[in-house]
Amino acid sequence: MPSLQQIRAALDGSGQAHVLRFWSELSEEEKEAFLQELGQLDLQRLEEHCQAAAEAAGAAPASCSQNLDPNLEPVPPESMGSVRRSDPESLAGWEHEGFLQISRNRVAVLLLAGGQGTRLGVQYPKGMYDVGLPSGKTLYQIQAERILKIQKLAESRHGSKCTVPWYIMTSEFTLKPTQTFFQENSHFGLEPSNVIMFEQRMIPAVSFDGKVILERKGKIAMAPDGNGGLYQALVDNDLLEDMKRRGVEYVHVYCVDNILVKMADPVFVGFCVKKGADCGAKVVEKAHPAEPVGVVCRVGGVPQVVEYSEIRPETAHLRGAAGELVYSAGNICNHFFSRSFLQEVAKKFKDQLKPHVALKKVPFVDSCGNQVKPTKPNGIKMEKFVFDVFPFSRSFVVFEVLREEEFSPLKNADGAPADTPTTARNSLLAQHCRWATAAGAALLDEHGNIIQIPLSSSAENHPPVKCEISPLVSYFGEGLELILKGKTIKTPFILDEEAAKELQAR
Ligand code: UTP
Repeated sequence: MPSLQQIRAALDGSGQAHVLRFWSELSEEEKEAFLQELGQLDLQRLEEHCQAAAEAAGAAPASCSQNLDPNLEPVPPESMGSVRRSDPESLAGWEHEGFLQISRNRVAVLLLAGGQGTRLGVQYPKGMYDVGLPSGKTLYQIQAERILKIQKLAESRHGSKCTVPWYIMTSEFTLKPTQTFFQENSHFGLEPSNVIMFEQRMIPAVSFDGKVILERKGKIAMAPDGNGGLYQALVDNDLLEDMKRRGVEYVHVYCVDNILVKMADPVFVGFCVKKGADCGAKVVEKAHPAEPVGVVCRVGGVPQVVEYSEIRPETAHLRGAAGELVYSAGNICNHFFSRSFLQEVAKKFKDQLKPHVALKKVPFVDSCGNQVKPTKPNGIKMEKFVFDVFPFSRSFVVFEVLREEEFSPLKNADGAPADTPTTARNSLLAQHCRWATAAGAALLDEHGNIIQIPLSSSAENHPPVKCEISPLVSYFGEGLELILKGKTIKTPFILDEEAAKELQAR
C-alpha cells in the first residue's frame, strides 16, 4: 500500500491535488479509510482517465452525423430465430436442446446487478425491490424461484438432478446488502454454494474540467465501471475457472430489472447451441421507428448494437416487403455467451472495450467544504457496456421474443411515463392472467363476475387482475391445465404450491 507522501506526490503530479484538500480536518479513522481508498486507485492512470473523461464529455455525442447508415444491414435471416416467425417444430427442437444442456449442468445464469439504480431512487439494490405483487415477492426472489423451477423441469425431462449456477455481479454499493438479503432469506431455497456473488470494479467520477469529484471530505465519488465491467470482473474473480470446474459451457446474461426475464430460457439457449453461436442477443421488436432503444444489427458486416440516435430517421423508418421494420431488433440486455467466447474476450479483447460517457448528478463537497446535491448533471461516469463484445463474435445470432411475454424493465419511480413499479407489476399480472385463462380457468372479480381476458392482452390495454402464479408452480405457463382447467377462481388469487395442491384435489 503506498504511503500518504507517495499518494500526495502522485495526485500533485496528475493535477489532482484538491483530493487531499481537507486531509487535516479528517479524524484518524477517516484518514485511514481514505488512505485505503486512495491506495486502491490506479494512480498512474488517474490523469489519463480524468483527461479522457473530460475530452469524451466535451466531444459531440454519437449521432447520425457519423453516418453509419450506408454500412448498416440487419442480421441475416439464417442467424435469426423468432418466437413469432419460426415454425413450431424448430421451437420445440430448440427447447429440447436447451433442456438437455441444462440437465447436463452446462448452463449458468449471470445477473448484472452492480448498477446504482439512480432513476428508481431507492437506497438498496434494485433486486431487493418489491413492485407490489400480491405475494410481496422481490425481483431477487422471483428470479431465484425461476432457477429452482427450471432445474426441476430439466430434471423431470431428463431424469437426472441438475444445477443452474447463479453468478451475480454486484458493486461496492450492492454486494453487502445483497449478501445479507440472500442469507436472511436462506437463499430462497437455492444451495448457497451455487449462488456466486462477485464485485465489479469502481472508477472515479470526474468533473467536466477533468477533476476527480470529492463526494465527502475523505471520500472520492466512485461509480461502477458499467455492466461491461463484467469481463474484467470475470478475470478478477477467477470465474471462468469456476465455470470450467462446474462443467458450464453456456452462460445466459441478463439485467436485474426485467421482471419477465426467462432465466436460462431453454428455447433461447437451445437455439444458440444448435446454431453453433458463440454469442447471441435476445431482442424484442421495436414498438415504433423512433423508440429510443439500441438496435442489434451489423455495421460493415460486424454485429453491433447501434443506438437509436446513431441511425437517421429515414433508415429507422425503412420497412421490408411485409411492412415490418428493417431495423426492428430492440436490444434488451439479455445475452448468450459460450464460455470459450468469454475466455477469448478475457484474454484478447476486454482491454479494447471503449468506455461510454454518462453525464450524471454526482453529490459533492465544494471547495469550502459544503455538501452539495446538484440539480443538473455535474459529473462524468465512464461506463463499458456488456454488448460491446458483439463485434468480436465469430458466430453471432439473434432471437426475437414477444415483448409482453419477456420484457418489462423497472427503471423509474412511479409517476414516470414508463418502466415503473406499476408497469412491471401490471405486465407480470397480465401475463399470469393470460396463462390462467389459457389453461382453462374462469377468473372472477371481487363481485363474483367473470373477467373476460383476451388472450393477447398486454399490461397497457387491460386493468390488472390480481392473479399471480408462483414460478415454483409454473416457469412460463406450462403445467397449468392440470391444476386450473375448468376451475372457477376468485381474484385476488395467488397460485403457490399449496394452492395448486388444493385445486388439484378439488
Ligand atoms: P442501467 O443502465 O439501467 O443502470 O443498468 P441502473 O444502475 O440499473 O440504473 P440507473 O441508470 O442508475 O437509474 C442495466 C443493468 O446493468 C446493471 C444494472 O444493475 C442493471 O441490471 N449494471 C449497470 C451493472 O451491473 N453495473 C454497472 O456498472 C451498471
